[in-house]
Amino acid sequence: MQSPSSHPQRTYDHLILGSGIAGLTCALKLSKHGSVAIITKKQKAESNTNYAQGGIAAVTSKEDSFEMHVSDTCLAGAGLCREDAVRTIVSEGPERIEELLRLGLKFSEREIPDSGGAKELDLGKEGGHSKRRILHCKDVTGREIEQALLQAIASDDNIEVLEDHFAIDLITSSKAQKDETNRCLGAYVLNVITRKVETIRACSVVIATGGCGKVYLYTTNPDIATGDGVAMAFRAGVAVSNMEFIQFHPTCLYHPKAKTFLITEALRGEGGVLRDLNRHAFMSQYHPLESLAPRDVVARAIDTEMKKSGADHVLLDITHKPAPFIIDRFPNIYRTCLRFGIDITKEPIPVVPAAHYQCGGVITDLNGATSLPGLYAIGEVACTGLHGANRLASNSLLEALVLSHRCAKRIKADQQLNDSAPASLPPWESGQAQAPDERVVISHNWDEIRRLMWDYVGIVRTDERLARAKKRIENLQQEIQEFYWKSTLTPDLLELRNLALVASLIIASALQRKESRGLHYNLDYPETMPAPSQRDTILTLDSFQN
Ligand code: FAD
Ligand code: SIN
Repeated sequence: MQSPSSHPQRTYDHLILGSGIAGLTCALKLSKHGSVAIITKKQKAESNTNYAQGGIAAVTSKEDSFEMHVSDTCLAGAGLCREDAVRTIVSEGPERIEELLRLGLKFSEREIPDSGGAKELDLGKEGGHSKRRILHCKDVTGREIEQALLQAIASDDNIEVLEDHFAIDLITSSKAQKDETNRCLGAYVLNVITRKVETIRACSVVIATGGCGKVYLYTTNPDIATGDGVAMAFRAGVAVSNMEFIQFHPTCLYHPKAKTFLITEALRGEGGVLRDLNRHAFMSQYHPLESLAPRDVVARAIDTEMKKSGADHVLLDITHKPAPFIIDRFPNIYRTCLRFGIDITKEPIPVVPAAHYQCGGVITDLNGATSLPGLYAIGEVACTGLHGANRLASNSLLEALVLSHRCAKRIKADQQLNDSAPASLPPWESGQAQAPDERVVISHNWDEIRRLMWDYVGIVRTDERLARAKKRIENLQQEIQEFYWKSTLTPDLLELRNLALVASLIIASALQRKESRGLHYNLDYPETMPAPSQRDTILTLDSFQN
C-alpha cells in the first residue's frame, strides 16, 4: 500500500487530458490565462489525430458555401444533427483554419490551369460531400497538424506536457469533500514510469481523450483509443449520448501483417472504385453516389457483398489513374502498401471495413461545457450534436478545432466561478492492492470484449445478438471490477475497465434504439422512424444502474 506522502500532488490552473488536436489546440489558447498541464498516456504525438489522412472539411472555395456544407452534414447525420451545432462549427471553420496556417501548417496546393504557375489549395473530395472542400497535406494531414501544434506547445512556457501519465478518474467535490454542489476538482493520474498515482488539482479540467475504436477487434484506431474519457466522465455522473453510432470506415487495408492501416476515402474521391473479387464494381446497386456514398452505406454494402460471396475482403481500385499522380497524391499509402507487396498503381488494394469513429460521447454544449461544473469535453470524446447518426467525412478535425477555441473562451469566462477550488485533495487510496499475478486474465478479457463487440454489435445488428452481448459484458464487468479492486494499477487494467464500461454503453444505447438510422442498423427494425420520433439516446449513471 502506498502512503499518502508517496502520492505527489500538483496544482495547475488548467488540466487537459489528451494531446491530440483538441487538447493541444485548447492548451495553446488557455496558456494565455494561466498554467496548463497536458497529460497524455503514451508519447505526446500518439493520438488518432496523428494518423488522420483525408484532411479537414471547411468552406474555402467560391464554388462552395456554408449552406452546402451544412446540408451535406445534416444529410449524412440522418436526421439527428443539431442544426445550431452544425451551423456554428461549419461557419467558424475557416477562421480556425487561418490559425493553423499562422502556425506554419502548409496544406497541399495545385497549379491553376492556364494561370502561368499560380497556385490554389488542392481541395479533396470524400463520401457525402457535394463539393470539393477537404484541405489536406497529401495523405498525412494528421501528422502535419500534430507536429505543428506540438512545435507551438514546445515554445510556450506556460504549458507542461506530462507523457506516460494515465488519467484514471476525475476528482469531484461530492466525493472528495461530500459537497452538496458537485464540481470537478482535478484528476487521479497514474505515472506509468514511477507507477505512483498522482493527484492533480486544477480549476478547470478538459477531457480530450479521443474515441474508443479499440473496443472492436478490427479498427483503424491506434492503441490509445480505449474510450477512457467517456468512461471517466460517466463514472463521475456526466451523461453520455448516442453511443450506438459507431462509424465503420469502409476501407482498411486487409493484409495479415498490417495491424491497422487506413486507405483514405480521398482515394475514392480521386476516382478509386470498389470492386468484388471478380473485379465487378458493385456500389451502383446500393447508392447513386456509388463508391462515394456516405460511409454507413458503403460499409454496409461491403458487409453485404462479403457475406453474399463468402469473401473476406473486397478491392479498391485506382489503377486507371496515372502512376505519377497516385504516387504524388498518396505517397504514404503508396509506400506502405508497397512494403506489404502491393503496388497500388498496378493492382487493386484488398480492403475491409473497420471501427473508426465514435459519433456519440460526453454530452456538451457548444462551448465544450458538460453538466459537471469545472469539467469540459472536446474532440472525439464529446457529443455536441454535429454528427448526428453518422459523421460526414473530415468533419471531426474541424469540430475539434472549433470546439477547442470555444471551450478555451468559455473556461476563461468561468474562471472566477471555478477559482474557489480547495488547496488540497484527498490522496489516492490503494488499499491492499497487490501486483496482478494473473495478467493473462487481463489480456483474455481484452480479446473477449473486442471479439464479442465485433461479432454481436457490429455493422449489422439484431436484438438477439445485442442481448447476448449484454449478458456477456455484464459477466465480464463483474470479473473485471473484482480484479480492479485487488490489483495494483497498470495501463492495461485501467484500459480494460474502461473498454468494458464503454462496450456496455454502446450495447445499452443500441438496445434502446428501436429503429435503423445512420450507423445503427438493426435487422429487427429495418425502418427509420418518422421525423417526430427522432431522438438522442441518453444514458446516465442513475438510469444505467437501476
Ligand atoms: P486524439 O487525437 O485521439 O487524442 C487523444 C489523446 O488523449 C491522445 O494523446 C491519447 O494518448 C490521450 N489519452 C487517451 N486516454 C487517456 C488517458 N486515460 N490519460 C491520458 N491521456 C489519454 N478525421 C478527420 O476529420 N479527417 C481525417 O482525415 C481523419 N482521418 C482519420 C484517419 C484515421 C486512421 C483515424 C484513426 C481517424 C481519422 N479521423 C479523421 C478522425 C480524427 O483523426 C479524430 O477524430 C481526431 O483526431 C480526434 O482528435 P482528439 O484530439 O479528440 O483525440
Ligand atoms: C479518411 O481519410 O478516409 C478518413 C477521413 C475521416 O475519418 O474523416
